[in-house]
Amino acid sequence: MLTIDNVHKTFFAGTVNERRALAGVSLRLEEGDFLTVIGSNGAGKSTILNTISGTLIPDSGTVRVDDHDVTRLPEHKRARYLSRVFQDPMKGSSPTMTVEQNMAIAYQRGKSRGLVPGLTGARRTLFREKLASLELGLENRLGAKVGLLSGGQRQALSLLMATFSEPRILLLDEHTAALDPQRADLVSRLTGEIVAEQGLTTVMVTHNMEQALRLGNRLIMMHEGRILFELDDEQKRSMTVPGLLEQFRRLQPGAGQDAFDDATLFESVKTDDGR
Ligand SMILES: Nc1ncnc2c1ncn2[C@@H]1O[C@H](COP(=O)(O)OP(=O)(O)OP(=O)(O)O)[C@@H](O)[C@H]1O
Ligand SMILES: [Mg+2]
Repeated sequence: MLTIDNVHKTFFAGTVNERRALAGVSLRLEEGDFLTVIGSNGAGKSTILNTISGTLIPDSGTVRVDDHDVTRLPEHKRARYLSRVFQDPMKGSSPTMTVEQNMAIAYQRGKSRGLVPGLTGARRTLFREKLASLELGLENRLGAKVGLLSGGQRQALSLLMATFSEPRILLLDEHTAALDPQRADLVSRLTGEIVAEQGLTTVMVTHNMEQALRLGNRLIMMHEGRILFELDDEQKRSMTVPGLLEQFRRLQPGAGQDAFDDATLFESVKTDDGR
């Protein structure tokens, strides 16, 4: 349903500040695929999400959703079918509005235009139910200003809001990175549950290898604007955290795909298991 074909993006091309962010990335996601994306800093992970969301227009290559070429479609026109949660818990909601006002706006997304984000009794009940599923006690704080919530509570709320309208594509950019380990685990677990429940096609960037293996059915590792290797569901299941860390140790400037063929990829896994 999502096809990225040979996408290139260079910032400040032809200047001393030239940065090649994407150097020919191709990727195809089927409906309901949950892809986790790992890779070193500056590998191009966020840039890939930005080209999917329309925040950035690539220099060349195409992005297609179903049969529609959306490469140059402005970001706001993609909002109907796409939702995103960022690393910064402060970004996904408005601090000066209450929990229920934030939720009412999120609920309205993807619904018919012109309707005021009203707060009927039925809607409040729905919001309360959804909040209760987070197990953070937020169902009793509908009238509280979001700015008063903790980072973890706010990020859980952002995730809930991002998936309210059952988007066709969910983009998560290190969305648990700013949380303490316990809250990160909670939001990670909620992510798995919500994505599974709604069957959302999802792309999640993470630096947490355990999370990258636990969530999703596919995994890619990026480096210097390229996809170095990809694991399918079965390969992902047999991969280990030390196995992935070993791939990071092997990263060199200019490392190419040929250094990461299947045989060498799973070598480290076998050694770690002592098999
Ligand atoms: N808006 C921008 N303007 C200029 N350069 C950019 C911009 N966005 C990204 N870059 C550059 O493109 C490259 C890829 O950046 P990107 O943010 O995609 O990396 P990343 O894999 O998300 O890294 P991180 O793990 O640090 O978040 C980097 O060299 C970065 O400096
Ligand atoms: Mg990034």
